[in-house]
Amino acid sequence: MERIDHLTGPVLGIESSCDETAAAVLAADGTILAEVVRSQLAEHVAFGGVVPEIAARAHLAHLPALVARVLEEAGIGPQDLGGIAATSGPGLIGGLVVGASFAKGMALANQKPFIAVNHLEAHALTPRLPSLGAPPAFPYLLLLLSGGHCQCVAVEGLGQYRRLGSTLDDAIGEAFDKSAKILGLGWPGGPLLERLAATGDAKRAPLPRPLFGRAGCDFSFSGLKTAVAQKAAKATCDQDRADLAAGFQASVAAVLADRAAHALAMIDGPTAMVVAGGVAANGAVRAALAGVAARAGLPLVAPPIRLCTDNAVMVAWAGIERLRAGDRDPVGHAPRPRWPLDTLTAP
Ligand code: KG4
Ligand code: ZN
Repeated sequence: MERIDHLTGPVLGIESSCDETAAAVLAADGTILAEVVRSQLAEHVAFGGVVPEIAARAHLAHLPALVARVLEEAGIGPQDLGGIAATSGPGLIGGLVVGASFAKGMALANQKPFIAVNHLEAHALTPRLPSLGAPPAFPYLLLLLSGGHCQCVAVEGLGQYRRLGSTLDDAIGEAFDKSAKILGLGWPGGPLLERLAATGDAKRAPLPRPLFGRAGCDFSFSGLKTAVAQKAAKATCDQDRADLAAGFQASVAAVLADRAAHALAMIDGPTAMVVAGGVAANGAVRAALAGVAARAGLPLVAPPIRLCTDNAVMVAWAGIERLRAGDRDPVGHAPRPRWPLDTLTAP
């Protein structure tokens, strides 16, 4: 197939790698024309976590209507598109197959270029969305803080990513969710734990700060979770549990600040610190990171929460960046449940 060097129309983005089914249409210049996210929280809440088979079935059930809706809202038909981008990894394979196959079918039927988007690259490129203002120049530090991912990445250019550090065990969102569960809170536990922590005193429940001060910027949270479990077993009242939530959050924030400072020092001439992922919604986390960025004289770029958590705007935008660079993928591209960012190369 011939390569296209110029993007001629809007781009449809599809996200289905975990438990959000999402679709968006962006104009070729990146203007958001329509976006929708359908969370599957209700389907999974009874199980206390995401059930892959239920997730895949829900994507299959809802994606067609969501795509029809964003195309209608954007006032276009599939024939008007300049390209179709779908998350093709990393993530849960059932959902990836549903979203990528849907996108490929549309691309084939309408003779449009298909882009297989790496979900992590989509998070990494989000701060370059035109609607967010002047984009940070390369290189910048991306802190990916979600339920499934926890890593520090140097974003050095389109297709040029260097993983500086990542978690050795649990992802940071997972640590929030597991600790919340230990404290008797619901799922997902991050926001509930934050609310409980607001009524507690961290000083009354000091907890370990794993890897604090160590070289590099890896993370580890399983020891912290164990410490929460041990103290929770001795908690006798609601105030004890609130103090424990506050102690947990203070430890996480301190560790994150330390790791982020190390990560910045591993990049030559960083221009900004960018956060993505659901945990970026946490006030204590944001405040700690804002302090690190300020001390380094850099802006902290935190996209609005709806663009920090999983969404299809970021997928369409990553597609636009790659289509503009003259890139496209074969419809035979197989979804990849594991797909490290640093294996990508510039188009
Ligand atoms: O990025 P995200 O929506 O989905 C993926 O994991 O891909 O992140 C969800 C995670 C969950 O673990 C949730 O508990 C956590 O983000 N989270 C928070 C807060 N809001 C969401 N963690 C701490 N504080 C919050 N306010
Ligand atoms: Zn994500």
